[in-house]
Amino acid sequence: MNIESLPTYHQDEQLAQAEAGVEKLFKQRNDRWYPLEHIASPGGWINDPNGLCYYKGRYHVYYQLHPYGTKWGPMHWGHVSSENLVTWRHEPIAMAPSFEAERDGVFSGSAVISDDNKLVIYYTGHRWRNGIDEREGNLQEQCMAISEDGIHFEKKGVVIPCPDDRILHFRDPKVWKQGSEWRMVFGVSTPEHRGEIWMYHSNDMIHWEFDRPIYQHPDPDVFMLECPDMFPLGDKWVICYSAMGLKHTGFEARNHNNAGYVIGSWQAGGDFHQESDFHLWDRGHNFYAPQTFQAPDGRRLVFGWMSPFTEPIPMQDDSWCGQLTIPRVVSLAGDHLRTQPVHEFEQLKSNIQDFGSVNLAVNASQKLLSDVQTADIEMEIDLKRSQAERIGLEIHRTSNGDHTLVCYDDQLQGVVIDRHCNTYGDRGYRTAPLDTTDDTLKLHIIVDRNSVEVYINDGLEVMSSYSFPAEGPREIRLIAESGEGSAYINRISIAQLTTIWEGNDR
Ligand code: FRU
Repeated sequence: MNIESLPTYHQDEQLAQAEAGVEKLFKQRNDRWYPLEHIASPGGWINDPNGLCYYKGRYHVYYQLHPYGTKWGPMHWGHVSSENLVTWRHEPIAMAPSFEAERDGVFSGSAVISDDNKLVIYYTGHRWRNGIDEREGNLQEQCMAISEDGIHFEKKGVVIPCPDDRILHFRDPKVWKQGSEWRMVFGVSTPEHRGEIWMYHSNDMIHWEFDRPIYQHPDPDVFMLECPDMFPLGDKWVICYSAMGLKHTGFEARNHNNAGYVIGSWQAGGDFHQESDFHLWDRGHNFYAPQTFQAPDGRRLVFGWMSPFTEPIPMQDDSWCGQLTIPRVVSLAGDHLRTQPVHEFEQLKSNIQDFGSVNLAVNASQKLLSDVQTADIEMEIDLKRSQAERIGLEIHRTSNGDHTLVCYDDQLQGVVIDRHCNTYGDRGYRTAPLDTTDDTLKLHIIVDRNSVEVYINDGLEVMSSYSFPAEGPREIRLIAESGEGSAYINRISIAQLTTIWEGNDR
């Protein structure tokens, strides 16, 4: 790779200002909902996970960051790193806008390790066409930056300019190595406003050639596919994307924008052949822009952004906003992806309380724990014997009656996260439909100060939602609601989770 031929752009001043911005917000932060188990910025707004990789002995997670406020704004790259995927430390902000092509933001992108062991980042340089806002669209180009320690980046400018003036969205490069070649996919809104994923390839990481549109969304309402990703799993290839313009039907695609995948086959130089339906990655209220990467042991890992799409967004009053999901491992389950917490997450468990098997009369409730900040809950419900209509847990239950209900709902034939009893934040429910022939239902629930993540039947479905508890102690209660008879829980145990932050969270 002859990078000498490319210019270098310096950004020390912009980075120092951005650090000061985060520090200022950090000092004012209210911690009532600040996560102990999820990656977030010490202060300011975050969105998509970026540049996920394992480099020189550490995992690196970068993320879209607005360091000067708690709403989306000019994008930077924040950074955390970990030796073990369990505990994390905050690193200096990695990138700030510093040359003309990225004047209005350093947008999302990905990382690869070059043959000479450099960390190479491809990302989108973003400008507003009218210089102010999105009314006349974006001018976006794929850029490159290089690092030898994962901390300091030398920007190398634009490697793929936008080829057509009528293209208003052109962003989020995801790169991987295939044989001796480099491949890149990114999202495009065509002049006809169709959402497509374009593929490029390169031999030297600098000069990129257009291969083909590798995927076009079948729905003409879908005008952009953000943060596409493409990766092999078993003998298949997975294409995933975050769709703008997808309309909801029934339980599907209920969020403002929605992230999902299709599974198929592909060979370099050919077309992608889709073999599965579209599936959502996650059926909760808050999940978007996931990115995958390969761990050194070969596992395919994914982080998503818990996107707070709908107002009100109460954490914005606390000097920070937004978090990533916990790391998940992805595997194939037929025409579906299974996603589960990485096994390393187990190391955070402490004080496991085993409640054994519990029978609960209909319309009864039982307090399990009286004040919980973080919890890792494993339970199994006997669906065959149980006759109550809703069976599950009230989480974040406070003395004013607020709570988020995570339950099996026999009427909806699925798992539900129901936030209708909450004072803070968006309410409403989400449903993950179930295979109703199963005799039992396994739920693995990770509770943080501001959220629940629910893994259903070993990760065949996942639901991630914010949940902002009201004031006072936060109980966890088991409930059985309505129906012909009792609820039978085969087993339930709850562990506390120690924090992921090394030292402190700053
Ligand atoms: C997805 C997204 C990306 C873009 C980034 C900007 O949430 O809109 O398409 O690169 O966020 O912050």
